[in-house]
Amino acid sequence: MKKQITELVQNRYSPMIFEDRKVSEETMNQLITAATLAASSYNAQPWRFIWAEKGSEDYAKLRSLLSEYNQTWTATAPILMLTLSLHIDDKGRQNYFSLYDLGQAVSSMAIQAVSIGLQLHQMGGFDMDMARKITKMPDTYLPGAMIAIGYPGDKSQLTGHFLERANEPRVRLSVDKVSGDTGMFNTN
Ligand SMILES: Cc1cc2nc3c(=O)[nH]c(=O)nc-3n(C[C@H](O)[C@H](O)[C@H](O)COP(=O)(O)O)c2cc1C
Repeated sequence: MKKQITELVQNRYSPMIFEDRKVSEETMNQLITAATLAASSYNAQPWRFIWAEKGSEDYAKLRSLLSEYNQTWTATAPILMLTLSLHIDDKGRQNYFSLYDLGQAVSSMAIQAVSIGLQLHQMGGFDMDMARKITKMPDTYLPGAMIAIGYPGDKSQLTGHFLERANEPRVRLSVDKVSGDTGMFNTN
């Protein structure tokens, strides 16, 4: 069955190390364009992307939001991104699906990335309150995940925990476990 899954999906993974190679503005544009082609409830397109290139002041600001763990392994990431969703629109209406839609957009971005040799590594481990402060994010937005983006590096250069993690087999719940009919929650 695995063979029948498109290679773009099979080959997506979250790298722990990136090549020392710039990601061009044009490539970033391509990734974000792919994200914007995702479906969204009422076509509200509630996704927003704040990103910066390694070496810039903005990159340092985004990096400072990350947990210590994530700061360590993202040291090689050429691009850091903070994703947001607009969960209250300009008429004050709550969009229940805003984070759902943002996730779909990031998934499109991830698949596009694989198709041109890049990978994304999403992170929930960051300071959301600080993210609000440093970006002056209005309350109508919710921070989504942060993302490290780049050309994946040689994992044999990793050491210790990070090497172990990069070599872990991909473990997934079975299709039987995650799908079923309306009776799937019956315990007997
Ligand atoms: C919303 C979200 C938050 C995540 N947070 C972190 C994180 O803070 N640090 C980290 O190293 N990986 C994080 N990950 C990466 C997951 O651990 C990874 O996607 C998962 O182990 C499956 O591995 P794969 O993406 O290589 O298939 C996150 C992924 C998602 C989607």
